Amino acid sequence: MAEFDHFKHFSSISSTNRYGIELIAKSNPPAFTVISADFQTEGVGQIGSEWVSIPGANLLMSIILYPDFINAKEPFKLHFITSLACTELLRQFIKDERIQIKWPNDILVDRKKIAGLLIKNTFSGNHVKNSVVGIGMNVNQDDFDKYLFNATSLKMVSDKEYNISDLRIDLYGHLKRFYNLAENGKSLKEIYLTYLFGYDEDFSFFDLVDQEYKRGIIVDVLCTGELVVEVEGVERKYDFKQIKFLLNEE
Ligand code: BTN
Repeated sequence: MAEFDHFKHFSSISSTNRYGIELIAKSNPPAFTVISADFQTEGVGQIGSEWVSIPGANLLMSIILYPDFINAKEPFKLHFITSLACTELLRQFIKDERIQIKWPNDILVDRKKIAGLLIKNTFSGNHVKNSVVGIGMNVNQDDFDKYLFNATSLKMVSDKEYNISDLRIDLYGHLKRFYNLAENGKSLKEIYLTYLFGYDEDFSFFDLVDQEYKRGIIVDVLCTGELVVEVEGVERKYDFKQIKFLLNEE
């Protein structure tokens, strides 16, 4: 397919991310190799959870990168790149104000999760050696299991069906563009923050370290990945999985 530099598509696969990781382990796949699937039998989500998606309905893709311009202390730059590629894709169909990024791995529309990111990095010395960037975006699925009550899809938020191959090409194009900007030294954090849920606005969360409900304002996201939240005038840094957002509280 001319739109991609290197493309492998499967009607069914265990997980595009797992395939990407195995490919790197046994060969030297070119940068920007895209692995996509109509269906994953063992789609991987965050912290060992499953990523469930009905056959042919959604966007499931992983991209192999060698972002050696990214310092090992700043791996979250890949989240800036990938999150913005997703928001940019969604902007083609949905008003900007409905789209948000929920730190660290979720993309929301109307406060419901439309996409999730799974980024696996390998480091060499002081830089990122390779990265498998997995994106799962709900597109034409309009019915989710009860436990996924906070899930949504492009179809559900816009009442339209989409061509998954076209979306895949567009998403890839956006990702490449943001990647190139980052490689050329552009900081993407400022744009990222404009989409960030809780940035510069009061939000409720459960602090898993202190085991307490709190209200705060996000004041920054560091390139390390840490979230900086101001609670009662005091700034505090949180690592992945130290915060649970309470999305539907005001
Ligand atoms: C999350 O839990 O929010 C992250 C979900 C990531 C899912 C995508 S789908 C394509 C790629 N392959 C996988 O097995 N997982 C990622």
